[in-house]
Amino acid sequence: MPGDLSQRLVDGLNVSYGVHPGCRAAHAKGVLCSAVFTPTPEAATLSRAAHLAGPPVRAHVRFSNGSGDPGAADAVRDGRGMAVKLYLPDGTKSDVVAISLPSFFARTPEDLIAFNDARRPDPATGRPDIARVGAYLGEHPEAVAAVTAAVGHPIPTSYATLAYHALHAFGFVDRADGIRFGRYHLQPAAGVSSLTDEEASTQPPDYLAAELADRLTQGPVGFDLDVQLAGAGDPIDDPTAPWPDDREVVRIGRLEISAPAHDREVGGDVLVFDPTHVPDGIVLSRDPILLARPGAYSVSVARRTASVSTR
Ligand code: HEM
Repeated sequence: MPGDLSQRLVDGLNVSYGVHPGCRAAHAKGVLCSAVFTPTPEAATLSRAAHLAGPPVRAHVRFSNGSGDPGAADAVRDGRGMAVKLYLPDGTKSDVVAISLPSFFARTPEDLIAFNDARRPDPATGRPDIARVGAYLGEHPEAVAAVTAAVGHPIPTSYATLAYHALHAFGFVDRADGIRFGRYHLQPAAGVSSLTDEEASTQPPDYLAAELADRLTQGPVGFDLDVQLAGAGDPIDDPTAPWPDDREVVRIGRLEISAPAHDREVGGDVLVFDPTHVPDGIVLSRDPILLARPGAYSVSVARRTASVSTR
């Protein structure tokens, strides 16, 4: 059973975003798509994982808004999500769960609970109390970059025109058991683009799903999957700390998203994207935020489905 910490993490999200039956506690509004992942030849030198050293595999991709409120309009300044589930030939899965922010809000689950408490809506205004958030940031300078990026986030033209970052480091294990730690980045083939405030003001509330469906009628939407390798001294357990831009990057594959998907999350099927779902050839770092996620996701799944399945 997920422990008290996991419950408190989800309670914090529920306080910020409200409780919405049947919905994820975060990233509640999203769109699910079918995709195929094709590894590059370089991928097999980094990891022996079957999807990196073999033929193309089937995938699901879910794009989402960061909020836990499924009724919130799309044209807001906030991080977006891109969650990928790769189906390996032996039945295991490899999930890559990324956001469009360069770093995360907290180093530890306890700090994240304190952060969510600091930004909980003031009952008088329905908005966070700026003084409380400011006091938190004064004590936690490591959170400033993520908060700044979220509040100034461009309003995207499309889910297909953002770059996404998985933020945690994972160990990539080769055939000789050599391990190199790296971070995933998903780069949009369509390039990065956003709307002006004027353009955003004319968009319907659900424009991002409609735009993506329309875009997919013109052809597949591509993303390149890169791994940025850790240099000497780069922290592999701190998602608030970006690594220098000059670190070696290995392009490990390409996702081709072909159509909206209707074959999962129907008839009681539970779909959860959890970055600790890794196959042989990829190992977890000791990042406390990464290790807190499965418990919190299980609580969210249990609340939204009354089931405790995590796959
Ligand atoms: C301890 C830290 C975190 C907590 C407590 C947390 C909590 C949650 C919860 C409760 C959900 C809904 C799960 C579900 O019902 O399936 C969720 C979804 C999501 N989270 Fe997190 N999260 C954390 C860290 C992160 C980080 C670091 C990232 C990005 C690197 C991230 C990206 C996402 C995305 C993209 C989704 C949507 C997945 C989907 O489409 O199903 N989260 N998160």
